[in-house]
Amino acid sequence: MPVIYHEVSKTFHLYNTELSHIFKIIEPGYLVNLYFGKKIRDRENYDHLLETADRSMAVTFSDERTDLSLEHLKLEYPVYGTGDLRNPSLDVTAENGSHLLDLRFESYTIQKGKPSLPHLPAVYTEADEEADTLLVTLCDQKTQLKVVLSYSIMNLYPALIRSAKIVNAGTEKIILNNAMSLSVDLPDTDYDMITLTGAWARERTVRRQAVHEGVQSIGSLRGISSSNFNPFVSLCRKNCTETEGETFGFSLVYSGCWLAEVQADTYHTLRMHMGIHPQGFAWHLDPGDTFQTPEAVMVYSDEGLNGMSQIFHELYRHRLARGYWRDRERPILVNNWEATYMNFNEQKLLEIAARAKEIGIEMFVLDDGWFENRNSDHTGLGDWQCDRTKFPQGLGHFTQKLHEMGLLAGIWIEPEMVNMGTRMFNEHPEWVIHEEGRILHPGRHQYVLDYSNPDVIDDLFEKLDRVFEETRVDYVKWDMNRTLSDVYSMTLKNQGELMHRYTLGVYSLYERLIEKYPKILFESCSSGGARFDPGMLYYAPQAWTSDDTDGYERQKIQYGTSFVYPLSSMGSHVSACPNHQLNRTVPMYTRANAAYFGTFGYELDLTKMTDEETEEAKQQTAFMKQYRKLFQFGTFWRLRSPFETNETIWMTVSKDRKQAVCAYFRCLQEINTGFRRIRLKGLDPDQLYHVSVLDIDVCGDELMHAGLVISDQSAASNRDGQGDFVSRLYLIDAKD
Ligand code: DGJ
Repeated sequence: MPVIYHEVSKTFHLYNTELSHIFKIIEPGYLVNLYFGKKIRDRENYDHLLETADRSMAVTFSDERTDLSLEHLKLEYPVYGTGDLRNPSLDVTAENGSHLLDLRFESYTIQKGKPSLPHLPAVYTEADEEADTLLVTLCDQKTQLKVVLSYSIMNLYPALIRSAKIVNAGTEKIILNNAMSLSVDLPDTDYDMITLTGAWARERTVRRQAVHEGVQSIGSLRGISSSNFNPFVSLCRKNCTETEGETFGFSLVYSGCWLAEVQADTYHTLRMHMGIHPQGFAWHLDPGDTFQTPEAVMVYSDEGLNGMSQIFHELYRHRLARGYWRDRERPILVNNWEATYMNFNEQKLLEIAARAKEIGIEMFVLDDGWFENRNSDHTGLGDWQCDRTKFPQGLGHFTQKLHEMGLLAGIWIEPEMVNMGTRMFNEHPEWVIHEEGRILHPGRHQYVLDYSNPDVIDDLFEKLDRVFEETRVDYVKWDMNRTLSDVYSMTLKNQGELMHRYTLGVYSLYERLIEKYPKILFESCSSGGARFDPGMLYYAPQAWTSDDTDGYERQKIQYGTSFVYPLSSMGSHVSACPNHQLNRTVPMYTRANAAYFGTFGYELDLTKMTDEETEEAKQQTAFMKQYRKLFQFGTFWRLRSPFETNETIWMTVSKDRKQAVCAYFRCLQEINTGFRRIRLKGLDPDQLYHVSVLDIDVCGDELMHAGLVISDQSAASNRDGQGDFVSRLYLIDAKD
């Protein structure tokens, strides 16, 4: 029973193999956290952890209990107005203008499994034994506003999933200004905060900084989760490394505007909360209405950052990603974007496709530029009709040709956008997010459709349905290339709901398309990786990691991305050199060595490759087919960080520990340097392995403790010898 309620002490204890979360009800009904951390044994009461003291200036419970103040207790879901003066997790405006709330315990239920969330992405279970869910209802007497806190303790993948449902059970209207998905108070502030920051083409850079007094917050107001900050925070101890030490991981299953806030007060307690960004948010709750927050995932590991990431990887790969492709090896593709951009015709594409087939590639993806008036990014978005000058016999003819060649077929769409001058824009200006009388601001020359309007969703469903029917595509890359501005809906009553309703609209269109086309593999994309978040993974099991396909930059981007997201979710391609983003030349084998640790494909004009490069691509494709199960579904370990060193080292190990691949990348050639070793991880200590490159047979204990020498002058001499951007793969295979 991983959710226990101790009646006498009124204490809830939720636990799985890794973590415990303990809180209790104290008179007159407040929920007070006693512990969140490594799993501890269950006991009847933990009251000694309740910290009470008379303090000057504190607002106390009553004249009798002057030692109890909400400001000094650790709270489960804090509100403003009853003594707690840290930032609240919930804020409302009542009809009389009051923001005051006094939430007290009303009831609880414990149920098997984990309920799904209406219209929102959510971690799921496949059997009731996989999780237990505690629902605790709190109530504000005056307004009859109820909050149902949901805690699902996962058993197979050790995580705690939280969300809140807000119910207006009163008779007056209430406006919700802020409703966080989770809130956690910790008893000290001796943590570093790790975030994944960046921008276009440098997504998910790992940043680590000490928690300090005051508020450190990250988030997005862009309408998408963004490449600037990813909806993830780790709080780790100062001595926490990739492989050792304590860390908490918090991840929000949401793709719209979000906020994560770490607040260290001057009594050195820490509050972490995470949810929809309150800026501009105002959700109207009429009597009887409810609002469901997105959910947030909390994990704990005392095996360092790798331990935390591995929990996220397993959970998200198996119980957030869904459908036909979840457990399937992903097809090796060629995408024509960097090969042709929008300048192509059917003939040219079929030539690339023929070469792809010869190389062993399995899918052709037709990127941007296939629809009417799309020869530049100034025009075309919105109508979704095939450009007959490029495809005289229609798009269906082209995809049929691909299928006849034995290739899968994929296409690119960007259904959230419209260009001026299209039929859609002219016929339905009210479908564009903007406020009349104000300048409409373009981004990439395009405008954002109002996904809070169900008519817009219906229209796009019809258009895309027609395209999918005609083409029988196997794969769809759903792009989104600008952030939201001019946020006003011409049709929505309550403007403060627009941002969230926009995100719900995106989810609903995905859901309808998935329902009708369950075998289509969706890859989400947003100018590269600007919407690489857990919410999207529920609909699209893979995402385009970044527009930056440089073989060195990709090491950093994929390293950072792996803090939360599994390799099976990372779109990764070998692209042309000099690289289109950086003009840098990285050897083709190094580009491939990075791209193997993802879904793998090519994004260059295959017809322009030399014979030698074509031969190399054939070998790479064959290699990926042989090992992709290991790459995409093994256990991933980060061993050396490109953010801290001149090298990147990572590896993936099969579940049965019989097979592993370790990749060594060196950025710049060093001269006359010392020797360095790398100790491998995750192997069976008693198993004898063959290590390629060195051609030695050694046991796992030696590989994990003595390690491999990697930094001699010939460190990368398997191919080009010395130089910049070299790499090598060590294949590690169990011997009988
Ligand atoms: C941005 C994407 O990230 C690229 O891969 C490509 O699809 C372009 N959009 C097309 O416009």
